[in-house]
Amino acid sequence: MNMLVACAEKFTINGAFRLENHNNSPNCMINGILKRYKEYLPITGDTPIFTIGEGDTPLVESANISDSIGCASLHFKLEGCNPTGSFKDRGMVVAVAKALERGVKSIACASTGNTSASAAAYGAYCGLKTTLIVPKGNVARGKLAQAVAYGAHIAMVDGSFDKALEIARELCLKHPIELVNSVNPNRIEGQKTAAFEIVEDLGDAPDHLFIPVGNAGNIVAYWKGFVESRRREDCNKLPILNGYQAEGAAPIVTGKPVDFPETVASAIRIGNPASWAKAVSARDESGGIIGSVTDDEILAAYRLLASKEGVFCEPASAASVAGLLKQAKSGIDFSGKKIVCVLTGNGLKDPDIANEIEPTSIGEYAAELESVEEALSLA
Ligand SMILES: Cc1ncc(COP(=O)(O)O)c(C=O)c1O
Repeated sequence: MNMLVACAEKFTINGAFRLENHNNSPNCMINGILKRYKEYLPITGDTPIFTIGEGDTPLVESANISDSIGCASLHFKLEGCNPTGSFKDRGMVVAVAKALERGVKSIACASTGNTSASAAAYGAYCGLKTTLIVPKGNVARGKLAQAVAYGAHIAMVDGSFDKALEIARELCLKHPIELVNSVNPNRIEGQKTAAFEIVEDLGDAPDHLFIPVGNAGNIVAYWKGFVESRRREDCNKLPILNGYQAEGAAPIVTGKPVDFPETVASAIRIGNPASWAKAVSARDESGGIIGSVTDDEILAAYRLLASKEGVFCEPASAASVAGLLKQAKSGIDFSGKKIVCVLTGNGLKDPDIANEIEPTSIGEYAAELESVEEALSLA
């Protein structure tokens, strides 16, 4: 039995589903977002505290890319290390806990894949009915497999993510179902904790943060986190935000919604971001930019991260590094600067794109040491 599940005890108070975590038990090794950042989250005495292991993700220093940037340091925030393989878990645990607090029994979201995997996992853990509305044919295979495995109800609709979100919003207005997309403010609250962790790990905010932008909730969440850290004097400065959209799905860059967004990075294939205005405010307050990168630039950064840094992220995540490389190539001077690139999701989520990478060396050989040695030029 899963040790964390064993730590959770479900019981009913006044007919409402409650989930109490015994995190002080020696069997529980992970605090999770709700417990660790309780005082900075909208948590009351009635909010159930539980975790499936979200947060506390590694901030890994670049071994090989940083030299080409010429910066003081470059770190990758590996959000693919969250339990469902993306940053969504940080916000989902807060959104689901607050829904449980109000006695909600059913949650729903529209999704390009990661939100649905996350909602389905937390829904499964908490015994909630989870409904996912996803754009048919536009969700990476790994993400859909997760949603199926977690036992969610999946509606594939013939339309874009933006259309799916419209339907999810209407569904939740009409029925007693909690919408757990990033338009739910509790999602942003949870996601801001990644900024807290970066400040804790670096001892200050970085000079620059590079982050992919899709529906634009995460860039808003990071900014909120850094601003709160600064207000508490946990850091001495605020970072410059550098958000990156894919060129074929870059409404914030062009200033108008994109009816048919197109990019290899399915997680950011979004034509009309729900948090557009807030993202623009965050960008401007930080003195930063929201720019775009081509699919070729995204895929080049995706391969570079895997082959030079040992980090296998999903294509959308690599947009942050693609943006940094693009800025460095254009001559921007990063000397003396500390940079963090947020790598939002795990590469295993999108096996079809991964399979397009040209292998360095792969072949079939006789099952003998000599033939393998010869094939690998070790003989
Ligand atoms: C892996 C990944 N990266 C980036 C994003 C973009 O985040 P946001 O929609 O909050 O801008 C998403 C959103 O689904 C995602 O799944």
